[in-house]
Formats: sequence, C-alpha cells, structure tokens
Amino acid sequence: MFKLKISHFIVVIFCIAACTKQTVLVKNVEKSITAKQEKIKSLLAKMTLEEKCGQLNFVVGEILTGPALQEAKSSVDLENQIRKGQITGVFNTNGAKNIQHLQEIAVKQSRLGIPLLIGADIIHGYKTVTPVPLGEAASWDLAAIEKSAALTAAECAATGINLTFAPMVDIARDARWGRVVEGSGEDPYLVSAIAAAKVRGYQGKNLAADNTIAACVKHFVGYGAAESGRDYNTVDMSERRLREVYLPPFKAAVDAGAATFMNSFNELDGMPATGNTLMVNQILRKEWQFKGLVMSDWASIQEMLAHGVAADRNEAGALAMNAGCDMDMMSFIYIKELPELVKQGKVNIKLVDDAVRRTLTLKYDLGLFDNPFQYGNPATEAKVILSKENRATALDIARKSIVLLQNEKNILPLSKSVKNIALIGPLAENKVEHNGCWAFFGEGKDVVSVAEGIKNKVGASANIMVAQGCDFYNNDNSGFDEAIKVAQKADIVILAVGESAVMSGEGASRSDIRLPAAQESLVKAIMAMGKPMVICAFHGRPLDLSFLENQSPSVLACWSLGSETGNAVADLLFGDYNPSGRLPMSFPRSVGQLPIYYNQKSTGRFYQGNYNEPPSERVYQSRYRDVKNTPLFPFGYGLSYTTFKYSEVSFDKTEMTQNDTVTASVTITNTGKRDGEEVVQFYIRDMVSSVTRPVKELKGFQKVFLKSGESKTISFKIDNETLSFYRKDMTWGSEKGAFTAFIGAHAETTNGKTFLLK
Ligand code: BGC
Repeated sequence: MFKLKISHFIVVIFCIAACTKQTVLVKNVEKSITAKQEKIKSLLAKMTLEEKCGQLNFVVGEILTGPALQEAKSSVDLENQIRKGQITGVFNTNGAKNIQHLQEIAVKQSRLGIPLLIGADIIHGYKTVTPVPLGEAASWDLAAIEKSAALTAAECAATGINLTFAPMVDIARDARWGRVVEGSGEDPYLVSAIAAAKVRGYQGKNLAADNTIAACVKHFVGYGAAESGRDYNTVDMSERRLREVYLPPFKAAVDAGAATFMNSFNELDGMPATGNTLMVNQILRKEWQFKGLVMSDWASIQEMLAHGVAADRNEAGALAMNAGCDMDMMSFIYIKELPELVKQGKVNIKLVDDAVRRTLTLKYDLGLFDNPFQYGNPATEAKVILSKENRATALDIARKSIVLLQNEKNILPLSKSVKNIALIGPLAENKVEHNGCWAFFGEGKDVVSVAEGIKNKVGASANIMVAQGCDFYNNDNSGFDEAIKVAQKADIVILAVGESAVMSGEGASRSDIRLPAAQESLVKAIMAMGKPMVICAFHGRPLDLSFLENQSPSVLACWSLGSETGNAVADLLFGDYNPSGRLPMSFPRSVGQLPIYYNQKSTGRFYQGNYNEPPSERVYQSRYRDVKNTPLFPFGYGLSYTTFKYSEVSFDKTEMTQNDTVTASVTITNTGKRDGEEVVQFYIRDMVSSVTRPVKELKGFQKVFLKSGESKTISFKIDNETLSFYRKDMTWGSEKGAFTAFIGAHAETTNGKTFLLK
C-alpha cells in the first residue's frame, strides 16, 4: 500500500518534471520561431522591390549544365551583382576559399548583408564519389544510402556548398532516357523509400549543423516519362498514373522534411511544369502542405517561350510566378522583368514577398544568418574530404550496388590463387569514366581503377595482363588482336566494358542501349574463345545485354561506382564480398520493349503462352512477334554466391477488415555453402477492383543476412493502407475482395497466396 503511494508520488513528480521540460522545450521552439519570423519580417520591410527580386535570382558559378543565355553572358560580373544584392546565391562552384570570398562580399559589402545560398549538383558525392544513384538503388539498403548521402553532405558543407540539387526522384521506365542514372528506378515504393532516406542523409536532424545541407527534390514532375525516352520531350499522362506512380516519391520527400523542390523541364497535360499551377500551388503546396522553396530548372522559365505558352519574357515570368515558382535559375527573368511585372500589376507583390520569405527562411534554417562562414572551412575541408572513413563508406555502398546477373558455371568467385588473369576493355585501366555522369568535382586521380583493384587483391601472386581492346566512340577494332593474345595466355578473362560517363545523364538519351558497338564485338570475339570469362559491365542505365542469351560468362552489373570502383569489383570477383545487389529497373531484351516495367496492367489480352507459336501464326494477344514480353533480367533480380529457398506464403489469417491486418510470412533458407544476404520482396495484387490495377506492386522488402544453412521467417504486415489506391472516383482507399500476396526474390515471383478483405 505504502509502496504504491510512493510509486504514485514518483510518477506524479516524473510527470510534472516531464511536463515542465516539455513546456520549456515548446517555449524554446516558439521563441526561436518568433525570432526567425521577426528577422525575416524586418529584412523584408527594408528591402526594395529590386532587392527582393535579387533574392529570387540563382546564378551559375563555373560549371554550365545547360545552354547559356545571352543574359548569362552579360552577367559575368558575379561579384558586382552580389554586391548590388542582385543574386540570391551561386551554384556549381566550389572550394572553401572561393566560397568564403563570395560569402564575404554578400555579407559585408551588400546593403543588407544577406548571405548566399551555395548550390551544386552533388548527385553522388563531391570528391569522394559514390555510385551513381541508380547503382545505389540496387543496394536496396536504405541505411547505406542514407549514410552515403550524409557523406556527400559533410564534404559539401566542408567546401562551402549548403544546398545540393538532389535527390532526383523521377520514376524512370525507359532506359533510353539518359537521366535514369540519376534516379532510383522504375518503382514508386522503392523510389519513395530511397527519396526519404536521401533527404534524411543530406539534411540530418538539424539543417543548421555544419555537416548537413539542404536537399532539392527534383524534377517536379513527370520528367521521367518523356516520350520515346528523349530528354526534355513531351509528357502526357492520366491524373491516376501521375498520382499513383510519379508523385509518391515527391510526397515521401516532403514528409521526410525536404527543404526545397525543383521544377522539371517537361510539359504535363499541355503546360510546362514551371508554369503548372496545378502541380505546385494545388498539389505540392495545398494538398501536401509543402512550406519550402520551389526553384525553376536551368532556364525553364525562359523555355516557356519555346514551348509556345508565353509570347515573351514578361509572360513567361508572370506565368512562372503565378504558378508558384519562387526562384529563377538562369532565365534572369525575375531579376530583369519581374520588378516591372509587379509595378504593372501583372504579378501580385504578395507572391514575391512569399517567395522571398521562403528564400530567407531557408537561409535562416541553414544557420547562415548566425554564421555565414560555417560552410566552407578550409581546415575542415582538408580533414573531411576524401577521408579514410569517407572512402570506407564509398566502398561499402559500391560493393552493395553491384548486381550478379549471371553465374551459371559458378566461375565466380574466383580463386585468389589464380595464376594468369587477362583484364580487357576500355574500362580496365581507365579511372575518370568510373565516376560516371554528374561528378564534376570528382577527379580521376582519386579513383581506384579495376586494374588497380585486382592488383591490390592478387597482384603479388598473379600475372595480370591488361589490354584495352577498343574505345567507346568508334568502331576501331585494331586492338582486338592484342586483347585476344592476352586472353589466350590467361586462365581467366575479365572484361571491363560499358558506357563512358557522358553516355548517360542529362541530354544523353540513346536509341540503342546495347554496349557500344566495338565493345560488343570485342566481348563476342572473346566469348567465342570459350575461356572462363567474367564480364564486368559499367553503365548508367539498364543495357540491352541480349547477346548473353544462351551464353555462359558470369556477369556483374556494376553501374558507375565512383572512387572505390576497383576495390569494390575485386572484393566481389574474389569472394571477399558476396553480391547482394538487386535490379531497381528491368533490363530489357531489346530496346523495342521500352518502356518496360514489372508493375504493368494486365490488359484484356494478357499473353500467357510459351512463345512457341510458329512464325506463320497470328496470336491475338498482347505480345511481340519477335521477342518475349518479359525483360531479360526483371526488376528486383540479382544472384548471390549462395542460394536461397523460399517456403510457400502463409498468413496468420486469411481474411481481414479495413480496420484489421493480415500478416504474410515466408521461411527463407540459405541452402548454399556461403553466408549471404537476400532481398526478400513483398508484392500485392488486387484481383478485382473498380479500375484496373497493376499485376503486382511492391509493398515492402527486407534485406536479410543468413548464414549458410540458416533459416529465418520473414513477415510483412498488410493493413488497409497497403491495399489502398485511387478508386474510380479518385478517392484514396481500399475495396473489398480478394488480394494476392507474393513474397519472393524478384518481380516475376509466382510465390503467392490469396486472402480476402471483407
Ligand atoms: C538539370 C538539373 C540541374 C540544373 C543545375 C539542369 O540542366 O536539369 O537537374 O540541377 O541543371 O545544374
């Protein structure tokens, strides 16, 4: 009794203490919010209209990533413009000293002393280059992806960059589009999870810390659906597809607290995204309550003239401002035309004030008003950049990004006592191409080449013979003889082939996504020798590797892996790391299948045959005459040096209500001789609904480590949200009926069982 009273007393004291602490915390937060508002209000009150427009003008430093307008050429006097308050920030510049200098001009020599945003396209690492985003997505390892983004943020912050134009979260289903490399693939669930992980990684818990930076989520929206996979091309899609497929990763980034957004170049339903009020004002701001800053893409305000929706720069400026585009990147319309547009009443000053408020808020949240020089510290720069820890993080994610596509004859892993190794291909000794696209500040000298990686591993005991064989850009096969000669002398042939950095990325669409022609011929010539052979393919996009059909070399899909390329590849080749990557995009059999993605609709004539019809026969079903419908390697696919066995799916119960859950489980066993990791994937199919639904949708995954011989039961909880979609009337929710839950190793798994939503 007494004890009870004492414990009650303790609880009461504890509650009072907790409440007091809570109240103090709330008060502190309120105080800092008020201080911020006060600061911004007082600044706004002091600003001239021209200074306000200056805060909305974002200007390139050294590295051009788009066509330079006439206006840009005449605006080279960056320092003077900063002094006059005509520039909110500079992007694609670097170096702590240089940035401190610019910052000093802004803070000490401009009338209001407003610090600069320093932006940059740090898409996959600053100096320590991590794998291209599509490669990192293949790791299906959210913690590793977050850590990689945090590494990037720390290096950026050390050099003075406080805003990265990443993550790029565009869904991409057409490998012709060069920018598939910058995103995380074809699936809304996976891309959303990665979007949130990256925002957390860049921004950390405190944007004002000196090792975190602001994220800019791009490109809003639909950019990945460019017709024919041709960059900047027209996009047209139903609202249903937009909301179900293309918008979710952006929403996930908003929910993760992303500070800024960037508009896309494409039109959507007849209106370029930069002038699309439905997208920004309605969906982003009203429905999702996004409070951050929205910027245009490079000259995308000006480009509304070319799109044909604005007759002149005035119209384009008014269109963009009225559609919620706060900041002008490289059109120079907000600095030149916007003041007049406000004076003429074509743009309400309230919109300009709101945009400036959002800009100043970002600067405040970054801690720039407290200490404009906290980013860009030469001492930290020297310590942090390319540090041992950063290289270790880059190596970890690089190993996790590689996907083992084929290993029929168990050529891999190689024995470390192998005597003669032939290493052939244009990516064998090359360094800089391994940084991939969008690695402006990464240097070739900091990359471990494939040859170096292999030498580091077995160089002391093995004879490593290297031949380039051919180049990327021509059909010259004069190096083939030398390549064949070294292959003849070898016990194992390793080919390092693929795309150069500029073959993917912005403006790098390809209508033929095979290996560059000379390299494909080289691979075929070596394959014909019948030697044990491993192909290490490096690429920014899924390639058409159909030449592999009925051929048995072992194949690693390596993407562009960055600074630690050679070490990562060697770890996989010689079994010091067991491959655990899985494809985030389908690899087609032919470019003619594009766009291709696993979460397609059934259609009324879904082909279920065996592709054995004689050529004379016409099959009135949805299929090609000359190629299967299925990809060569499906979404979610990847092998390991061990094998995994899945049990059938089981449920805790076979019926649920909308307020209830069902748990689906499998037992998975490592049936091979090595320990390894498997990505257990969980898909749902809604069997009948008021509108057509995809044949499968990823709804969860777990990356699990299993020792040889070990079994684990893996479960996925299914609730009403898991089963919800945009119904016929476009409301979000579920519909009663049968669903199939699939749990397996990739999107083509047939390991499914049906349950009922009552
Ligand atoms: C790209 C953006 C990039 C911007 C700034 C544009 O051309 O589309 O993704 O952030 O340039 O470099």
